[in-house]
Amino acid sequence: MDREVRSLQSGIGPLDFQWSGRHNALMNKFQRQLGKSDLCVSPVALGCWPLAGMTSGSISDEEAIAVIHAALDSGINHLDTAYAYGRGGESEVRIARAIRARREQVVLATKVGVYWDADGSLRRSGNPDLLRQHLHESLRRLEVAEVDLLYFHAPADDVPLADTASFFREMLDTGKTRTVGVSNLSVEQMEVFAAVCPITACQVRYNLLQRDIEAEILPWCRERQISVVAYEPLALGLLAGKFSRDHVFPENDWRRSSPLFSGEARTRNFDAVEDLRAKAAAAGCELAPWAVAWTITRPGVTVALCGAKRPDQIRETATAIRLADSWVESA
Ligand SMILES: NC(=O)c1ccc[n+]([C@@H]2O[C@H](COP(=O)([O-])OP(=O)(O)OC[C@H]3O[C@@H](n4cnc5c(N)ncnc54)[C@H](OP(=O)(O)O)[C@@H]3O)[C@@H](O)[C@H]2O)c1
Repeated sequence: MDREVRSLQSGIGPLDFQWSGRHNALMNKFQRQLGKSDLCVSPVALGCWPLAGMTSGSISDEEAIAVIHAALDSGINHLDTAYAYGRGGESEVRIARAIRARREQVVLATKVGVYWDADGSLRRSGNPDLLRQHLHESLRRLEVAEVDLLYFHAPADDVPLADTASFFREMLDTGKTRTVGVSNLSVEQMEVFAAVCPITACQVRYNLLQRDIEAEILPWCRERQISVVAYEPLALGLLAGKFSRDHVFPENDWRRSSPLFSGEARTRNFDAVEDLRAKAAAAGCELAPWAVAWTITRPGVTVALCGAKRPDQIRETATAIRLADSWVESA
């Protein structure tokens, strides 16, 4: 096992049996501290964007709920959603239905700052009045009075970032959220935000094929004990290794236009996947959990947010939790 994995033990990493007051339950040894907060999360979280059923084919309420239950039954305790996941907030509504009887088991995150306009286009805003309105709606859909983690979804240029950060500070101080995160912000933008409101988590794209954050964002977060929460750890499914080179996405699948699957990058990425699949197989693993285990054993990365549309997918991906732990144990 490489030096990076070994050094995980001295950074933010798996905690041995934590007691969490909020969740009032003994947490298992695989869970990790979120930033400097008292929240403990599984290193694999369920990313609930695909459950909105609008990006890669439709999904029913029952199918989405089955995926959430499969995640919770596989050792996952962290669900990630957003105001904009579904034009009518389908993701948040489905989560609410799925966790009505299991709220105490879940570290629940949502985001505001991105929304669908009347023309059906995705827009960004950091305007506190709009964010307040959207958070109110998110809490209503989620059927909760507060969330555990509230993110600013993406940088916007309609108001100064410090004003947006003041809104998040207020939500923290008034108990609408237990912690605050930011997503898709540069280091410079995080500096501005953090001067007004403490940041617990930074949500960014990170996987074996897309490693831009290693230059600046990852070291900056590590130094400050801000948890990096990696999204698209499976590179939209490419790193599950189940697409053939000539795979054609249906019309209603937004991955048709993703740069990962276009032009020369497509050939390069499929070459890389072939190579990685061989490495995973040599270790006796399927590629999906192996790729996710790689992500969550990078020092500074606390969580990988894994999307799924079927229960078997998240069950397979969740095996990365034990796999990563075995790498650390044997390092
Ligand atoms: N903050 C942000 O701006 C931002 C941006 C993007 C994503 N996110 C978050 O990150 C999460 C993860 O991103 P993502 O869902 O777009 O991408 P992902 O996790 O990289 O890929 C998810 C897709 O991969 C396929 N898949 C998953 N597990 C599989 C398995 N075991 N075997 C085969 N295929 C499998 C499924 O697609 P098919 O079955 O359709 O092939 C699934 O929908 C999101 O859900 C969201 O919560 C945040």
